[in-house]
Amino acid sequence: MFSTLKKRLPQNDPVLSMPSEKKRWTDLAVFGGQPAFPEKLHVGRPNIGNRSRVLERIDGVLSRRWLSNNGPLVQELEQRIAEFIGVKYCVATCNGTIGLEIAIRALGLSGEVIVPSFTFVATAHALEWLNITPVFCDVDRRTHNIDPRQVEHLITPRTTGIVGVHLWGRPCEVEELAGIAERHNLALLFDAAHAFGCSHHGRMVGNFGDLEVFSFHATKFFNSFEGGAIVTENGALAARARAMRDFGFDPQDDVSGIGTNGKMTEVCAAMGLTGLESLDEFIAANYSNYKQYHAELADLPGIRFPSYEGGEKSNYQYIVLEIDEAVTQIPRDQMLEVLHAENVLARRYFHPGCHRMEPYRPRFPDAGLRLPVTEMLAERVLVLPTGTAVAADEVSVVCEIIRLLVAHGAEIRGRLADRAARAPPALR
Ligand SMILES: Cc1ncc(COP(=O)(O)O)c(C=O)c1O
Repeated sequence: MFSTLKKRLPQNDPVLSMPSEKKRWTDLAVFGGQPAFPEKLHVGRPNIGNRSRVLERIDGVLSRRWLSNNGPLVQELEQRIAEFIGVKYCVATCNGTIGLEIAIRALGLSGEVIVPSFTFVATAHALEWLNITPVFCDVDRRTHNIDPRQVEHLITPRTTGIVGVHLWGRPCEVEELAGIAERHNLALLFDAAHAFGCSHHGRMVGNFGDLEVFSFHATKFFNSFEGGAIVTENGALAARARAMRDFGFDPQDDVSGIGTNGKMTEVCAAMGLTGLESLDEFIAANYSNYKQYHAELADLPGIRFPSYEGGEKSNYQYIVLEIDEAVTQIPRDQMLEVLHAENVLARRYFHPGCHRMEPYRPRFPDAGLRLPVTEMLAERVLVLPTGTAVAADEVSVVCEIIRLLVAHGAEIRGRLADRAARAPPALR
């Protein structure tokens, strides 16, 4: 069943050796067979632009001996990002999390802020770090984004803001959220960590709310090793964020208020500037993989393949499946076990939901009642490898494994259960 892979991976990875004969479910690596991939296939393996351009830029950094503190490459990156998004101000940061913390502080938030639970924990932690209570809101069944219809019920006299997260790069219902924020005099910001290069109604993400925050972490399709950026149309907010990024120093070199060290280094900006030059190539690779995964998996019973909005720009950086165990007969976590044994390091994202993580768990004992969609998605979502490091023939092999899993879900589940039952108690 699995086809032989002949193609070389980019960046000189070894040739994959796949069995050319048909693989039966009993031959799966989890049952002792040969793994489909000799090397691990990761979700979020970094995209790297033109190597010699990165090195050339880093060479310039070393020659100038201007390594940090708002150097010329950071300034150039900020300008390029602002132009790309069509927004007035961009403040680059050392990562997205510090970017969120600076943004939240620059907006003067306090008390309670409404945020989805189905997000990376950094969204909630950024609030908690500033002694603000994250109030978890459920997400929309279709889009996985914060559900505006639920937000209004969570507003109390202590609420000062709403944080939307454009999950998987799919923009939130920004108009509805803006309406709620305006009616209740709340700040609105977006964690746009997933959504660089995406658009909503023809406008680039980065233009919505009071401000938006990107992450350029190594695993994001566009990376600056570590990095992030706050973007806004509001000059006063941008000036506050810029000072906060640098210990509170203002342009006159006076400390105008509280600050931290959130500066991006020149080496990170060198990587970012170089990555920007290859953005179209990164997106094209993601799109091609997305189309292929969709073509090969979307018809499978029990597998939901959430789609991106047509006519909008997207970075297609996440291949997200929802597994309905009642239909596939095999739960998501057993699928992961099988895929991992084949060296496909698929991941469950945002499990079990921020509300079930520390330090939030004790505060939300009844969360299952209030966050049913989040709880369901946390049990169902499975994210597959993509990016420039994943070739078309590798996508085919991953899809073949998943098709095999679904075709023999009950048998594979039974065999895994038998094996677990026979394992020594310490291993169960
Ligand atoms: C939704 C979301 N928010 C925030 C972050 C934090 O960004 P960073 O890793 O750059 O701090 C990430 C990813 O890392 C994320 O996925």
